Amino acid sequence: MCGIVGYIGYRNAANVCMEGLLRLEYRGYDSFGIAAVSPEITLFKETGKISAAKDAVNLKGTCGIGHTRWATHGVPSKTNAHPFTDCTGKIAVVHNGIIENYAELKRELQNRGHTFVSETDTEVIPHLIEEQYAGNLREAVSKILPLLEGAYAILVIAEGTQEIVAARMGSPLALGIGDNEYVFASDGLPILDYTRSVVYLEDGDLAEVTPAGYRIYHDGEEIVRKVSTLEWDAADVRKGGFAHYMLKEMFEQPEVFSNTVNSIAENPSPLCRLRDARSVTIVACGTSANASNVFAYLMETVCEIPTRVVLASEFKYYPTPKNDVVIAVSQSGETADTIYALKIAREKGAKTFCLTNVLGSSLTRVSETTLYTRAGPEVSVAATKSFTAQVAAFMEIVNIISGGKLEGAVVEIQRYLPEVLDCDVDKAVELVKDASTLLYVGRGLSYPIALEGALKMKEISYIHAEGYAAGELKHGPFALLSEKTPVVAVCLSGITYPVMMSNLKEIKARSAPEVVIGEIRDIDAEEIADVYLPIPKVSETAGVILASVVLQMLAYKTAVALDTDVDMPRNLAKSVTVE
Ligand code: AGP
Repeated sequence: MCGIVGYIGYRNAANVCMEGLLRLEYRGYDSFGIAAVSPEITLFKETGKISAAKDAVNLKGTCGIGHTRWATHGVPSKTNAHPFTDCTGKIAVVHNGIIENYAELKRELQNRGHTFVSETDTEVIPHLIEEQYAGNLREAVSKILPLLEGAYAILVIAEGTQEIVAARMGSPLALGIGDNEYVFASDGLPILDYTRSVVYLEDGDLAEVTPAGYRIYHDGEEIVRKVSTLEWDAADVRKGGFAHYMLKEMFEQPEVFSNTVNSIAENPSPLCRLRDARSVTIVACGTSANASNVFAYLMETVCEIPTRVVLASEFKYYPTPKNDVVIAVSQSGETADTIYALKIAREKGAKTFCLTNVLGSSLTRVSETTLYTRAGPEVSVAATKSFTAQVAAFMEIVNIISGGKLEGAVVEIQRYLPEVLDCDVDKAVELVKDASTLLYVGRGLSYPIALEGALKMKEISYIHAEGYAAGELKHGPFALLSEKTPVVAVCLSGITYPVMMSNLKEIKARSAPEVVIGEIRDIDAEEIADVYLPIPKVSETAGVILASVVLQMLAYKTAVALDTDVDMPRNLAKSVTVE
């Protein structure tokens, strides 16, 4: 969703901001803009792709701010793109978040003579600052912040000054501290090109940055915030010769899986709480929820600890069981639904953990204890390596709690992941690419894998795909089956195998073409399938993870065949920062 960047130092601020916005592209956006001071404020705004407009930006000055907008209030357009200025054009603001009481503030400002150009909530901010500004930008910003209800990370610049004033409440904001230069950004990626030293602003913080240094204030008092080190490399956020970030990230999975398993194994202390838990609730969205369902299955079957997954956006409607452990799972650590769910759980007295991929993300501030996946930056909107990293963390957690029962499966996955990445899915792509509906089915541990396979397919290929527990098909979805409705099935040995084979026959009897992921040399399954995608013969737990990689490849190659925007699918954002 929206991303913000700010630069102050000795380079051309507009260029730094454009590079930064490119780094934030993955979050999703429909328009973007930049403002720079030199000494008056100049603006550039555009809709569409940042890369297409790169050469058109010609703003002077070494102090500037930029923004990618993902429309919430008002259509995507140049007029609604940030930065916004006050009536005089002397103050410019970029904002990430939502000002809930903007309509009321706007009416009051209009009554006092202010004119507005956009439909956005953000535009009230520069007008409010204008009323307070008398030469001290920090003072003016601090006076208007109490008027804002909702969530914000804002950057403010003013004509004739060399400073950026920033404030955070509920939306992420990091300040990179370089040599005589400073970079603000919604996350660490735009900062990496300039420095690895970063300060994560907390809710209620206000920062004032000039070429000479930075100060942070909280409740009017100057405070010191810890300087952290960004662990990722600038090289991690480049495509490295791959056609798409998604493909690159899929090929990183063997390393990511091992790194995450090792990091959990080396720091097992927070897991003790799970051992004593009467029950565990996991809150997550999308792919993170699918990975959490793998965990829930393993917790129940291997550790015999009752574990449920509640979609984070639904959690507020459920009672939180007393003495429950609540784990929030989120690659980005910025998903509003997940953060809110964990806040509620904590307020209700649950013990809270989070599992995230992003150091210092908002979720880590809400959770009592944080565990990290070691996936490195994930740029593609479609989560792949972060799913595998979450599963790796979960498998190692279950392994530790159960006294080593998943050791073998972990080793099998490490051994066979590179081989599975070489899978040939071309015939399966031919079979599914022209369908308007696909069904994905599995049972037991393969069920969340079917859900994830369908999610991946629909988000990047735009083919309607739904995941079902295979046994549910006859309770309704059978009505959809015909020769035009391919079914993608995960059919591995284990307790689900015999009944899954019956399901495959039932599907075949209704003329639906079948793509089956099964074990190598399973002649029976191969005979039923129209296209058979074999994986190595391993334990069921390892098999489903290998199968999930085949499903990622199927979605990826189908999207490429359909020529969609693989890394940035329409209407989607990488970090979903609104509820
Ligand atoms: C995954 O491919 C999706 N883009 C999406 O479902 C994602 O997993 C979801 O929005 C949750 O994100 P998070 O893990 O960063 O919280």
